[in-house]
Amino acid sequence: MSKTGDRVRASAAWRSVFRAPHTDTPRGRAMATFQNFFLHVYPVKVPRRALSFRSTLRLGFASAVLFGVLLVSGLYLMFFYVPSITDAYFDMHEIATAVAFGQFVRNAHRWAAHLMVLVVFLHMLRVFYAGAYKSPRQFNWVVGVLLLLGTLGLSFTGYLLPWDQLAFWAVTVGTNIASYAPFLGESARRALLGAPEVGGKALLRFYVFHVYALPAVLVTLLGVHIWRVRKDGLASGDAQGERAEPPQEVSASAG
Ligand code: HEM
Repeated sequence: MSKTGDRVRASAAWRSVFRAPHTDTPRGRAMATFQNFFLHVYPVKVPRRALSFRSTLRLGFASAVLFGVLLVSGLYLMFFYVPSITDAYFDMHEIATAVAFGQFVRNAHRWAAHLMVLVVFLHMLRVFYAGAYKSPRQFNWVVGVLLLLGTLGLSFTGYLLPWDQLAFWAVTVGTNIASYAPFLGESARRALLGAPEVGGKALLRFYVFHVYALPAVLVTLLGVHIWRVRKDGLASGDAQGERAEPPQEVSASAG
């Protein structure tokens, strides 16, 4: 190891982040993971097999990265967007034509949103086919379902914000569908729109859900989700996941 590397590792700043000195023993590796915030996504001890690309396809990680892209690009767009029916459409136009990197950031935001819905769904399928919804991960499965609903909620609320014809009619149709739900249907529609029709109040409500409420809920749930992955371990690494072949007695009697 180089002297500069040693000096960096010995510095107070480095040791404040990486608290355990790295020793290449099972205990040393466990301590390094256990005490490091950035290594939290996986449990302290992980079987090599669970970390292989084929086990998770990194779909959960990809969902988290896309969510990060959405937060950063969304924050940039917020500087130039006012959620009012007189400004919203023209602000979007200005973002596309006059704001530095505006069109690029808007496209990144839109594509990351579409991709996140797809990737979260594929992650859920992967988890399902690995049987990772079973005990002891059933709680994390429920947290995952809430994450999926939150992701869909972000997509839906974001759709209205450009305030163009597509946005207006998509949300008119979407909220009309909501009104057919038994018992609460009409009240749910009124609560979403704040008025009988899609208008200024609906735009403000959707904006508040899109940029404050839902991201806050998702960040919190994601913290719980990753904490549970860390505590429960990855399904593909435990005894149940290891059993790729049927138990010996079964295959023997079948033969
Ligand atoms: C915002 C959306 C989500 C993010 C960012 C996310 C993130 C992650 C990450 C990083 C992992 C670690 C393993 C991996 O990369 O696959 C994971 C595992 C897991 N996720 Fe998600 N997830 C999301 C949505 C969901 C959904 C929709 C479900 C199910 C309904 C779900 C259920 C689970 C379960 C049960 C595990 C443990 C898997 C195992 O032990 O093999 N997650 N998630």
